[in-house]
Formats: sequence, structure tokens, C-alpha cells
Amino acid sequence: KLLIIDFGSQVTQLIARRVREDGVYSEIVPFQKAEDAFKAMQPKAVILSGGPASVHEQGAPLAPPAIYDAGVPVLGICYGEQAMAQQLGGKVEGGHHREFGRAEVTVTDDTTPLFDGVWEKGKSYPVWMSHGDRVTVPPEGFRTVATSPNAPIAVIADDKRKFYATQFHLEVVHTPQGAALLRNFVRKIAGFTGDWTMRAFKEEAIEKIRAQVGKGRVICGLSGGVDSSVAAVLLHEAIGDQLTCVFVDHGLLRLNEAETVVQLFRDHYNIPLVHVQAEDLFLKELAGVDDPEKKRKIIGKLFIDVFEQEARKIGGADFLAQGTLYPDVIESVSFTGGPSVTIKSHHNVGGLPERMNMKLVEPLRELFKDEVRELGRELGLPEVFVGRHPFPGPGLAIRCPGAVSKPQLDILRQADAIYIDEIRKAGLYDTIWQAFAVILPVKTVGVMGDGRTYEHVLGLRAVTSTDGMTADFYPFDMKFLGHVATRIINEVKGVNRVVYDVTSKPPGTIEWE
Ligand code: XMP
Repeated sequence: KLLIIDFGSQVTQLIARRVREDGVYSEIVPFQKAEDAFKAMQPKAVILSGGPASVHEQGAPLAPPAIYDAGVPVLGICYGEQAMAQQLGGKVEGGHHREFGRAEVTVTDDTTPLFDGVWEKGKSYPVWMSHGDRVTVPPEGFRTVATSPNAPIAVIADDKRKFYATQFHLEVVHTPQGAALLRNFVRKIAGFTGDWTMRAFKEEAIEKIRAQVGKGRVICGLSGGVDSSVAAVLLHEAIGDQLTCVFVDHGLLRLNEAETVVQLFRDHYNIPLVHVQAEDLFLKELAGVDDPEKKRKIIGKLFIDVFEQEARKIGGADFLAQGTLYPDVIESVSFTGGPSVTIKSHHNVGGLPERMNMKLVEPLRELFKDEVRELGRELGLPEVFVGRHPFPGPGLAIRCPGAVSKPQLDILRQADAIYIDEIRKAGLYDTIWQAFAVILPVKTVGVMGDGRTYEHVLGLRAVTSTDGMTADFYPFDMKFLGHVATRIINEVKGVNRVVYDVTSKPPGTIEWE
């Protein structure tokens, strides 16, 4: 095992992710718990993450000294480098040269295995820096092997003790060869064989769920999205009928969505599933409400009400399972207490666990979206399901700008299905992060046959993205768009004009509300 000691960097999880990509299992432990974890785990290597602190602050976080005496390879990244330098007798200078963003480092010595086959002496490479302090004197036994104008001691190496440290972040994509350098550390230096797989993750996750849940009852809100679906199937493998899924159909779902979900989970997987038909309730409460935030709040509150009601009907539960992913978790290490966790409010069934006195089970917390998809495949979920575009909790309500009504939702459902169908046929579905239609409250004039029409405008949206945080509009071929528009106007009653959204994020968001 590999131990990652977290000093509170926003990108610590990326280290774990890169190592997983190399087939190595790691555990992330906040620095406060590192000493015990190190003893218990006896890891084969240690990585020290970045973090917001300065080693000059009082009570600055440091690594447990034992890691330097155990004869295991250690890699320090950013703050991890500074902590390591400070602890091993080097010098760290306080932050007058704040540096953030792209920088170039030049390799001065390529005899270290860290650079093997990746970086060459005398050449310069782009890296991602984010630091205030910097190392000015390496500890004894270390030599400087790469340098940058702002951080002359950019990489230090002690090949004998197998200690390495970099001032820049290796784990982010903005350091293009970072993953290869990490691989050198993990494979060549630490000697991991790289045989860990998603199957192993699945087995470990199942064990963890069983240990956490015991004989308790678990309830899971199933939305039909990839995350909650994978969580549900994983839980079912772990605890069988101790799990009940609740699927709330709020009438804001895509065409045939409810049928597909119910069929897959109830018939195919045989997972106990409560299918709640709550369309009337939701649409009644939403009637006439046109403020986007109000719409979201109404939907969120009703969802909890309905979910709670159903949960009570089946006799309650001890645990609430959620498909929370790592990017949904903004995790930071507080220096006084334990790690503090905030979850984006729209991503979970907020408020329910306390209200119903349930504990949370979140088996996907460490994973990124594409890893969840891989886990889904491992669990045998059909490819069309695993590869689905994200779909927001408030559903089509936020794709009907203004007030929501059933007739509009029906038009939207049909148009959206045609659009997605054409995208699939064109082989573009997997290239696009998310695509959907939006129905505008505006009507415009058209002519069909010999008659005048006065119908809704439909917006089409498609974006590429890696995490939904930023996005570019997808540059469809105009012929394709023309074809989709023709099909929609011919086949869907109520639409006579189609427009395409060419806004990126930022400044736009992906959804229109
Ligand atoms: P925006 O529109 O903020 O969306 O650029 C980014 C991603 O998040 C999804 N999204 C939501 N997902 N509940 C969800 O579960 C929500 O309230 C919500 N709002 C946006 C959106 O579909 C996109 O993938």
C-alpha cells in the first residue's frame, strides 16, 4: 500500500487518482492521523501532499518523523517538499515570491530514477506551481536536480534514501509529464507492481460497506443517474436485501426514464425498489413559479418530504446511501480539528440524515466520474447506462426557463429524445459531456404548409468538459444541426423554431437555470 499524507491541498485526491491509474492502491490520511496510520498500514512508500500552510507558522503541520526512519521511499509535493526540507535539516524561506500557475523548470541532473525516461538534462519543461514559501537549502544527502527562476530548488533528490521532493504539483494535468514522474516514483523507486484494478476496488468497497453497515438497514435515493445507480448496485452486492432503493418520479424526468430505471433495478438486478409517482405533487407546487432558485428550493424540499414519507412507510432505515463523488466533496483539512467536509448542497438529499437520524454511506467518495463509470462496468451495468450524460436533480424543471407546465414538459421530453437520438446516431454521444434541449417560454411566428404558426422556441445545448466546472460548446456541423431542427419541428407539435447555444462556461453555465 501507498500512504498519502494530506496537508490540505485541494488536489490531494488527484495524487491518489494518478496512482490508481498506475494500478497502485493508496490511502489518503489527514496529517493529524498520519502517525497512527503509518504504524497500522506499514506502507511501502509515502507521498506528502501540498497544502495551504507555511512551515514558519506556529504549529505548522509536519509529517510523523517515523516515516523518515523506516527505510521507505518518500515523495514530497509542494508544501510536502517544504515540510520534508524543514524536518530533515534544510532551509525554507518565507513567502516574498508568491508564484501561482505555469512555470518552467530546467533539469540540471538527470541521473535520478525519478526522471528516468521522462526528463533530460539541459531541457526545460512546463510545470504547475502554487506556493508562497520555497526551499533555499536542501537537507543533507539531497542534491538539486531541477531548477526554475522563481524556485531555484525545484526538485531535490536523495537517491540513496529514496527521498524526493518537488516544488511544483506533479498530480495536475498542467504539469504534462507529472503523471510519468509519479509513475517513476511509484513503480521504479517504490517497486509497486501495478496490479491493482477496479475489481480490487470493488471488493474493498464491499468489505468496507459491510463493516460500516453491519446488520443495519440502508435506504438509497435512486435518481437513475450514473452515480446513484452505481452506488445502488454496489450496495446491493455488499448487503443484498438490507438495501431498499427509493426512486422519486417528480414528473421532471426524460422520456421513458422511469420505465428504464424501474426495469433495470427491479427486473434485472432484483433490487427492492419503491417507485414513487409524485408528478402531480411536484407540478402543483411548481405551478406559476418562475424564479430559478425558488424552483430548485421547492423541488429540493418536496423531494425530502416524499423520500422521508416513503422511508417511514418501509419502516425507516439506519443508513442513507448516496452516490457522492470526490468532485462533489470539497474537502479541507482544518489545522485544529479533523478534516472538515462541505458538500455541494444540490448533490445530496440535504437535511434528511439528521431529520431521520440516519448515518451516511458514501462508497464512491474517493472516485472521479470516469472511475465511477469503470466501477459500473465492473458491476455489470449496461454500457448505455454507465456512459450516460449527467442529469441534474431538479430535472427538466431547470430546462424550462420560467414557470413549468406539463404541456411544456411533454414537448421538451420529445424534442430532447430526438436530439439525443441523433447525437447517438452520429456517434457523438461519448465525445460530448452533456447534451440536452431547453424549451423557452417565448413563442415566435413561423410558417408551415400554407399556415401561420405561433409556437415555442427550443434551444439545443451540447458541451464538452472534463468535470462540469468549465465547458466549451460543442462545434456541431451545421448540417447536423439543420437535420435535428427539421426532425424536431416536423415531429414535435408545439415547436416551430430551434436555436443552438454557443456559450461556453464561464461565462455561461451548462444548464440554463
Ligand atoms: P451548471 O449548470 O452549474 O452545471 O454549469 C454543472 C453540472 O451540474 C449539473 N447540475 C446539477 N446537478 N443538481 C444536480 O444534481 C442540480 O441542482 C444541478 N444543477 C446543475 C449540470 O447538469 C451539469 O452537469
